Amino acid sequence: MSEELEKKLEELQIERDRIRAGGGEKRIQKQHDSGKMTARERVDAFLDEGSFVEMDMFVKHRAVDFGMDKVDAPGEGVVVGHGTVNGRQICVSAQDFTVIGGSLGEMHAAKICKAMDLASKIGVPFICLNDSGGARIQEGVDALKGYGEIFYRNTVCSGVIPQISVIMGPCAGGAVYSPALTDFVFMSKGANMFITGPEVIKTVTGENVTFEELGGAMTHNQTSGVAHFVAEDEQQCLEDVKKLLSFLPDNNLDEVPLVETKDDPNRMDEFLQDLIPLNPNKPYDVRDVLKSVFDDGDFLEVQELYAQNIVVGFGRLNGRTVGAVANQPKIMAGCLDINASDKAARFVRFCDAFNIPLLTFSDVPGYLPGVSQEHGGVIRHGAKLLYAYSEATVPKITVILRKAYGGAYIAMCSRHLAADMVFALPTAEIAVMGPSGAANIIYRKEIKAAENPDDLREQKIEEFRERSANPYVAASRGYVDDIIQPKEMRPKLISSLETLLNKRESRPSKKHGNLPV
Ligand code: HXC
Repeated sequence: MSEELEKKLEELQIERDRIRAGGGEKRIQKQHDSGKMTARERVDAFLDEGSFVEMDMFVKHRAVDFGMDKVDAPGEGVVVGHGTVNGRQICVSAQDFTVIGGSLGEMHAAKICKAMDLASKIGVPFICLNDSGGARIQEGVDALKGYGEIFYRNTVCSGVIPQISVIMGPCAGGAVYSPALTDFVFMSKGANMFITGPEVIKTVTGENVTFEELGGAMTHNQTSGVAHFVAEDEQQCLEDVKKLLSFLPDNNLDEVPLVETKDDPNRMDEFLQDLIPLNPNKPYDVRDVLKSVFDDGDFLEVQELYAQNIVVGFGRLNGRTVGAVANQPKIMAGCLDINASDKAARFVRFCDAFNIPLLTFSDVPGYLPGVSQEHGGVIRHGAKLLYAYSEATVPKITVILRKAYGGAYIAMCSRHLAADMVFALPTAEIAVMGPSGAANIIYRKEIKAAENPDDLREQKIEEFRERSANPYVAASRGYVDDIIQPKEMRPKLISSLETLLNKRESRPSKKHGNLPV
């Protein structure tokens, strides 16, 4: 090799090493001291060993204002590329907080956009590891352009490839809207998200709030519903993302992954037989039903801490991913309210976009009554669930476990919203409304005039329950296909799913519908 060529190769190595060192030892140490990994450490921890192929390592910013002409920003503060996770291809970006606080300028954004475009072209999930102080203030409108171009791609890619945001540090200002446009938001403890920080809030509204209270991982998982998963630390957070990916197809044209299982498709769990109490007011944990029907008891709950009156998540039936939506009788009696409707509707739409069959378990007393719900717009929020299920063309299988009253009966993927198969347990009560409410309305005059109104009310409630609060009336009309024993659920669901695998359903062509938001 000539001396000149050797020098060029050496220069390349020096340049690569310089860029890989990011913001330098001191800032890396600061990152480690606060319990955080660097962008490159995160990429290494996330992708299969040796699989990461970096793109655009040599990109530089073009800013000159506010002294930026003298600022070197190795890798432009973001590492992007592609590689594999458990053998499956993905594209990834990881913001490097050690370089100008991971702030997003024009070229930083251009790198992320290039990785997103590649993910979209080759049809693989895009995962964005966020750790950034937001728009790079020195770059002004060029930074805003960068965000806008990411938001545009998030939207265009929505429903085409799964998009996952992982918040591992600050995610401030406009930076929050890219995660909000993606399908799932993971947060590791210590990370936070907010549009305006505590200081600005103090000035504008006078409120005192810490970063953690305002936009910490628990706040967004429990209260705002912005995030879907929380992890104790970064390593766990990345493991959780891998687990989610294992359930998902690569893109909207792909089928769900088939994962081999030794769990017998005909397994019947005896404990299910008396799990669901006959008394409609007695609670139980619907997750016991989900874990029992899914392969190996494996159920990945999504938004576990938010709107806990409804449970959504992924499981597998004989190796194939399904999305489950189930009322949770042990929280607020499993009623539907604003937050539960939003949570379930978004999940249903994700599943439908990515060919994931939907499994619905209904035990619901109705929509939650109350002034705050009505004034909060439960009508339009509740309508989202009706819309999402009606719009979905994936296989839709419903099991009515116990209560299925009124509008909530319809909303929980009833036959009338085009469920493909509907089963009911003998404990099911399918009625226009709860027996006591119904008796009080239709026998109001008689009860009022009775010598002993309480006795008559009880008698009428019982009469109403006997007449309508059972699955046989609905089954006699064909709204329920079959009434089954609880232990038969797993085999029945698997055979139904396998029957429906080739389901094709077309709708009138349109630009898009108008989901009530
Ligand atoms: C330029 C930034 C920056 C930013 C941080 N830095 N954020 N540089 N633009 N947005 C720089 C810091 O100057 C510092 O540089 C280095 O990154 C590390 O930051 P520190 O403040 O030392 O770190 P820390 O103490 O851990 O605090 C992190 C932080 C804080 C809480 C995120 O940096 C912060 O409050 N940043 C601004 C957050 C924000 O308000 N963003 C909104 C931007 S406007 P040196 O050289 O000292 O190491 C926006 C609107 C976009 O996003 C709208 C789009 C639709």
